[in-house]
Amino acid sequence: MTTDIREAPARMPETSSRAFPKDFLFGAATAAYQIEGAAHEGGRRDSIWDAFSRVPGAVINGDNGDVACDHYNLYRDDVALMKSMGLQTYRFSTSWSRVRPDGGALNVEGVDFYKRLVDELLDADILPWLTLYHWDLPQALQERGGWTVRDTAERFTEYALDMHDALGDRVNVWTTLNEPWCSSFLSYTAGVHAPGHYSKGEGMLAAHHLLLGHGQTVKELRARDESLNLGITLNLTVADPVDPTVPADLDAARRIDGQFNRWFLDPIFRGAYPEDVLADFRRVDAAAAASLHAAILPGDLETIATPIDTLGVNYYHGELVGGSAPAVPLTGGEAPTDRRGDSPFPSTEGIFWHDRGLPRTPMNWEVQPEGLTRLLVRVSEEYAVPAGTSLFVTENGAAYDDEPVREDGVVRVHDPERADFVRLHLGAILDAVDAGVDVRGYFYWSLLDNFEWAWGYEKRFGIVRVDYDSQERSIKDSGREYVRIIAERALDGGVYGDAGGSTVTSDATGA
Ligand code: FCB
Repeated sequence: MTTDIREAPARMPETSSRAFPKDFLFGAATAAYQIEGAAHEGGRRDSIWDAFSRVPGAVINGDNGDVACDHYNLYRDDVALMKSMGLQTYRFSTSWSRVRPDGGALNVEGVDFYKRLVDELLDADILPWLTLYHWDLPQALQERGGWTVRDTAERFTEYALDMHDALGDRVNVWTTLNEPWCSSFLSYTAGVHAPGHYSKGEGMLAAHHLLLGHGQTVKELRARDESLNLGITLNLTVADPVDPTVPADLDAARRIDGQFNRWFLDPIFRGAYPEDVLADFRRVDAAAAASLHAAILPGDLETIATPIDTLGVNYYHGELVGGSAPAVPLTGGEAPTDRRGDSPFPSTEGIFWHDRGLPRTPMNWEVQPEGLTRLLVRVSEEYAVPAGTSLFVTENGAAYDDEPVREDGVVRVHDPERADFVRLHLGAILDAVDAGVDVRGYFYWSLLDNFEWAWGYEKRFGIVRVDYDSQERSIKDSGREYVRIIAERALDGGVYGDAGGSTVTSDATGA
């Protein structure tokens, strides 16, 4: 295993440098199903992702998380690697299917794995940042309706309290859900994530029950221990209209913002679903909207709005949308699987994605760091500051087509595009800080190359390369660059001052 990071690339010429706030935390993120493997070890049973991976055509190459990065067995080495890189915090998720297999009784062996992992992190002086749900619902619960039924929210809180019983003395930061937009609309409406259903109504119900599970878990954990840092992570976007003077373009941007951002931010911070989106839902599918309405019981929105300490923002790219089709149709960033993928947006008719000539990664995601600055300013002003909630960027990263080379017996990955991506987005965060936003930390996605959901192992996001045959880890050049930034707690000056500028060239993105 390569853990020698002393050969970090030479420093860039220093004209001036921009320092990060004193307490800013640098970390990296992963998720249980994407890295752990050991799918049938230690009493773990199927999650919806194990089942979905077996559906013909659902995941590229028929890949699955059976082995993944074998982190379940290699976690000690992985923590040592993080320590050698100077990471201050590590965001990981616990697997419900390991802790309460089939959603049933507690599995002590499963809980013990997380105890060992957390102890290892604490020994290495790395702050554990625990996420309770990163999409891996026990399959047995899906067979009872999954997130479309209210009972799943109850079961989620039960599992969360088990985790707190086991780790409450050692873990302070608790995130309930990762990206509930994905585990509702992308999973139950678009059909591209597990369980792969195609129903507008199911997506709406799933989103509500996920949020309910979040709110009641925050309430219960808070009642147990006032000192916990409790929060949720949302994937948010910046939807720009093609022409801000054209009503149809503005409406397209409003609907994307509404269904992606405000559908989650508003109930969490304001205790209400956005009226305009509810009206859109009624218009496109009255029956689905009626069943959502029936599922929102008195008190639910108050529960969902239980105050949180931390909002995690995941940002990968923005979007340019309009009411008329571009000359050349732009395909989304979905995995080209053999299975059909519908739109994740219930109100999708008449919305078209446009290209604004920004560099794109091989996922076909545009590289738009300036969007992150605007997003942080907006979320801070409209939601976080009024609620007294702290902001962290809990995911941001890029997949590139890495080519490993062996140099002097060491595996190296020269990935300047990813290193630029990291610098540009850290620069965008500093721009937000300069604009007065209190951003407290950054987690690169991901520490390791891993199972990228419907993309399987095809797409690599890691700052550490994983050779899936040998399980050898090798820090990529981007990882070395991140190590250097963490050590200096500053970005070199000049290049990053202009958040709109990009050092990523389009021919370097492979787009
Ligand atoms: C996010 C997910 C994460 C990973 C990245 C690329 O939406 O939270 O698991 O797939 O995208």
